[in-house]
Amino acid sequence: MAIEYNEDSAVTVRNAREDDLARIVELDRQISGISKPDYWRESLRRFGNARKARYFLVAEKDTLIVGFIVGEIRAWEFGTPPGGWVFSLTVDPDTRLGGVATVMFETICRYFRQAGVDKVHTMIDRSNITVMSFFRSQGMMAGSTIPLEMDLADFTTEQAEVL
Ligand SMILES: CC(C)(COP(=O)(O)OP(=O)(O)OC[C@H]1O[C@@H](n2cnc3c(N)ncnc32)[C@H](O)[C@@H]1OP(=O)(O)O)[C@@H](O)C(=O)NCCC(=O)NCCS
Repeated sequence: MAIEYNEDSAVTVRNAREDDLARIVELDRQISGISKPDYWRESLRRFGNARKARYFLVAEKDTLIVGFIVGEIRAWEFGTPPGGWVFSLTVDPDTRLGGVATVMFETICRYFRQAGVDKVHTMIDRSNITVMSFFRSQGMMAGSTIPLEMDLADFTTEQAEVL
């Protein structure tokens, strides 16, 4: 996977590496309020290093990582044909509204396309207006699937009997 430079935003998009971990953890902590080094280490192991159909990209500006995007191609989950999924997208609050997320999103979409899929999916919290506005600006719209969830608090934690 080539390193991509975008002149308009002066951003370079490249594969994430092990030594990017600390900055990725810090960017995520700034937004989520929780430091999750183990989670991001595992995420880098699974999606980093240009693995087939897996993408962990960072955006670099003046040698500082200002954002990252994570995604992969998944096939037949929830009955959907092979498609690209974006799991995480974050841009440094000091660098926002400068086109950084757009460059990363366009790059991952191009990789999805080169890998042969023709749809990109994501899932967002409906109260996250900023992220919603971003994805809408890229042309994404509500799909035909909806997430369902249920509280498990009433389920016993006793071990189920294995027959
Ligand atoms: C959403 C996010 C990635 C956008 O990054 P960005 O680099 O600022 O986005 P861009 O500059 O490429 O914006 C492209 C378009 O998105 C829309 N947009 C982005 N931020 C917006 C905002 N705060 N309000 C309204 N529209 C917005 C605009 O249409 C914008 O185009 P414009 O600048 O011509 O108006 C960034 O705000 C972010 O990291 N937010 C927090 C992410 C988060 O909550 N992550 C956890 C869940 S994955």
